Amino acid sequence: MSVDVKSLIHEGAALTEQALEELLPSAETVPASIHGAMRHSVFAGGKRLRPLLAYQAAVTIAGALPAGIARLGAALEMLHTYSLIHDDLPALDNDDLRRGKPTCHKAFGEAIAILAGDALQTRAFEVLSGLDVPPEATVQIIGLIANAVGTVDGMIGGQVLDIESEHQKPTPELVMAIHRAKTGALIRVSVVSGGVYAGAALEDVARLTLFGCKAGLAFQIVDDVLDMTVDSAHLGKTAGKDQATEKATWPAVYGIEQSQRDAARLIEEAFAALDPYGSRADGLKAVARYLVERKK
Ligand code: IPE
Ligand code: IPE
Ligand code: MG
Ligand code: MG
Ligand code: MG
Repeated sequence: MSVDVKSLIHEGAALTEQALEELLPSAETVPASIHGAMRHSVFAGGKRLRPLLAYQAAVTIAGALPAGIARLGAALEMLHTYSLIHDDLPALDNDDLRRGKPTCHKAFGEAIAILAGDALQTRAFEVLSGLDVPPEATVQIIGLIANAVGTVDGMIGGQVLDIESEHQKPTPELVMAIHRAKTGALIRVSVVSGGVYAGAALEDVARLTLFGCKAGLAFQIVDDVLDMTVDSAHLGKTAGKDQATEKATWPAVYGIEQSQRDAARLIEEAFAALDPYGSRADGLKAVARYLVERKK
């Protein structure tokens, strides 16, 4: 069955956008500076891919989009945006441009940007605590997501490795560890939490985890390739940064062409984990294909 991935992306993003609008304090809410900063970064035009993965994982498990899942999507997007705000700080990647706009610290100053990242993280967990699923599923989702954002094979741990590996020749093992953690973990948990929201059993969680691991690694490989092959105006963030700072990237180890092949192969491998779901996984597969075919 062919899936119209453009409409999937468009409708998924609209769902996420509306939930974010409802769940984030208005820019006038006191203290206004931080709410303005949170909104500046969240509504700067992200692709909203992590929520979309959660939605399509839920469809894979339940056959339809479960009610209220946009709140899970919004929480994932808040956490992702928090990671971007902190990734761009002078102490980390020191970037001026994000999602086509000045980075949070450029627009609001470093102190407010740090606090806006912190605040998006705490708001995300507050939203997750009120999900419209049985308490056991809520607790499971919160535990999985907190772990994926954390220091042991999670986003923060990956960011530490990334920063500490600048200006040295990366090994395949190192770049694999960085990518799985800094980006792969949140992509994986987006898929898995969407599944759990829809009532996934243990064997479903195992399949979605396998799929999410491979798709997450492929996603960061493509991010590395785009940094080298697309210009800043199109990317909405500073291109060529990775080479300038000698980051441990996939192309730094394998070159651009091999990286493109690896990303495509990982997605094909990821699909195998979804075989038991037949056509119910078509949407999730289409989104995964988009992760590696995207041009920004
Ligand atoms: C960029 O993620 C940062 C990485 C983890 C590689 P996205 O490419 O999903 O960025 P947005 O959300 O669309 O801005
Ligand atoms: C970002 O990796 C990973 C996280 C934000 C956790 P990058 O540093 O490669 O992301 P971009 O390229 O700045 O979006
Ligand atoms: Mg970085
Ligand atoms: Mg960066
Ligand atoms: Mg990058």
